[in-house]
Amino acid sequence: MRHPLVMGNWKLNGSTKMVKELIRNLRNKLNSVSGCNVAIAPPALYLAQAKQALTGSKIALGAQDVDVNLSGAFTGYTSAEMLKDIGAKYIIIGHSDHRTYHKESDEFIAKKFAVLKSQGLTPVLCIGESKEENSTGKTKQVCTHQIDAVLNTLGASAFENSVIAYEPIWAIGTGKSATPTQAQAVHKYIRYHLAKQDSAIAEQVIIQYGGSVTTSNAAELFSQPDIDGALVGGASLKADDFATIINAAVTAKKTVYLS
Ligand code: PGA
Repeated sequence: MRHPLVMGNWKLNGSTKMVKELIRNLRNKLNSVSGCNVAIAPPALYLAQAKQALTGSKIALGAQDVDVNLSGAFTGYTSAEMLKDIGAKYIIIGHSDHRTYHKESDEFIAKKFAVLKSQGLTPVLCIGESKEENSTGKTKQVCTHQIDAVLNTLGASAFENSVIAYEPIWAIGTGKSATPTQAQAVHKYIRYHLAKQDSAIAEQVIIQYGGSVTTSNAAELFSQPDIDGALVGGASLKADDFATIINAAVTAKKTVYLS
C-alpha cells in the first residue's frame, strides 16, 4: 500500500516573515492530518529557519535542488551532506526550471539522484514533456529517457523509497493542469516501465503529479489509482489551499485503498 505524498515547492518565494507565518498556519491546519505524508521545500536560505519552525510537527522538510558534489570549490551550491545535516528529507531534482535554465541533462540529473541516495535522502525526480513533445506524441518517449538515465546507471533498486514527480512542462504554473485521465495514463506507463525491471519496486514507488494542482482539481487527480499525491507550486504558498489539497489526498486514497 502506497502512502500518498503531497509536497509544496515554494520555488523562489519567501522571507523570514513568510516562512514563520506560512508554517505556523500550516501547523494549525494540519495538526491532526494522517493518511498522507506532507513536505515543504522552501528556498535553501530558509531551510534552517523552516526546520526549527517545523519541530514537533508531522510536516517534513524538503529542498529544491542539490549539487552533484559533496564539498569543495563549488561556489554557490548546496551539497547532499548539507541537506542531510540541516534535516531535509525530500529533495527535488530535475525540475523543469533546472532542465531549462541550467541545461541539466538526464545523465547529470541521474548523478544528483545517486548523490542523494548515497546520503540516505529521498530524491523527488521531476520528469515531463514540453508542449511540443506532447502535441507530437512524444510524452512516453521523453519520460522513458528521463527515467532510464537513472535506471541504467543505478538500477531499479534505486527507486526504492524514492519519488517520481510527473510534471508536464506545459502544465507548470499555467493554470492548465493535465486532465486526470491524461495524467493517469502517463503515471500508469511510468509504473509499467519500472515494473519491467522490478515489479515490487514499481508497486511501491510514489508517483506524484505536478502542474497547476489546485483546490478544484486535486480530488479528481488523486482519485486516479496511479497518482500518489502531488508536487504543488503556487497553491502551496497559501496555507488554506495547501491544506485542502492534502485533505483531498487523504479522502481519495482512503477510498482507493479500501475498495
Ligand atoms: P505549479 O508548480 O503548481 O505552480 O504549477 C508545480 C511545480 O513546478 O512543481
